[in-house]
Amino acid sequence: MTSPLGKDLLGLEKLTAEQIGLILDTAEPLKEISERTIKKVPTLRGATIVNLFFEASTRTRISFEFAEKRMSADTVNVASAGSSISKGETLVDTARNLEAMKIDMVVIRHNSSGAAQFLAERIESNVINAGDGTHEHPTQGLLDLLTLRQRWGSLKGRKVCICGDVLHSRVARSNIWGLQKLGAEVAVCGPRSLLPSAIGEMGVTVFDRIEQAIEWADALNVLRLQLERMEGGYIPSLREYNRVFGVTRERLDRAPKEILIMHPGPMNRGVEIDSDVADGPHSVILDQVTNGVAVRMAVLYLLAGNSPRLAEAAKGGV
Ligand code: CP
Repeated sequence: MTSPLGKDLLGLEKLTAEQIGLILDTAEPLKEISERTIKKVPTLRGATIVNLFFEASTRTRISFEFAEKRMSADTVNVASAGSSISKGETLVDTARNLEAMKIDMVVIRHNSSGAAQFLAERIESNVINAGDGTHEHPTQGLLDLLTLRQRWGSLKGRKVCICGDVLHSRVARSNIWGLQKLGAEVAVCGPRSLLPSAIGEMGVTVFDRIEQAIEWADALNVLRLQLERMEGGYIPSLREYNRVFGVTRERLDRAPKEILIMHPGPMNRGVEIDSDVADGPHSVILDQVTNGVAVRMAVLYLLAGNSPRLAEAAKGGV
């Protein structure tokens, strides 16, 4: 039995609309497992999954771990601090040594774009990209799609604007590919200094003013200003950014229709998004987090089909 997703999940750019639909359809019923008193099914019993997180993470790391544990996989977490990576061991050597201990899957977050693919081409285990540099964050894109699909039924013809620091955002890239494949119209809005120069080639509309984006959109996906990836010069000041591009209650009150508010987290409250918007009635930010566990369960479940041994475990269903 081979996985309908192939060996690895590296990004949404290469997936078909059918593959994305399959992941979302698989995630939908898996949500219920997390509502149970005993949040555990035997689906991945016997599987060993290594979570390699070389960059900080709260939501992604913990929800992968919950997803793995709720499907009864054995999990090991490796961070660069405290491992031999801090002594200069390479990524591939680390992964090969883990494989020598008979693992089945690797979930990797890395600050270099392309790190997940680099690893996937060099090890036999399934590799899942949990965010690589400024390239892609496919499971975040998938949980965003699931959240919108739950609200709207279908994304066809819906308008989604990705706001803010698109330049440094792997979430933006995964969202653009995923939304377009499912038939949504996509726009971006932010200061030109924070938009990639080739953004026009991605088939998106570009808004220079947040008011235009709010007038146009059915949903805003508000991105974090990635201050740690900026060495100055991108924006005059955080206060100025909030004044010109901040998603505020006053601006939303002037919207011609109801708009869903998304944010991948972590948020800079009072910078790209005000607290009364983040915590307000149109916010689906915590729904995104809840959906993250189900989407990651679905990805693990589907990729498990790629391994004959894991396929046996998956046959038991959920
Ligand atoms: N959305 C997201 O990737 O959050 P973390 O960095 O906390 O995992």
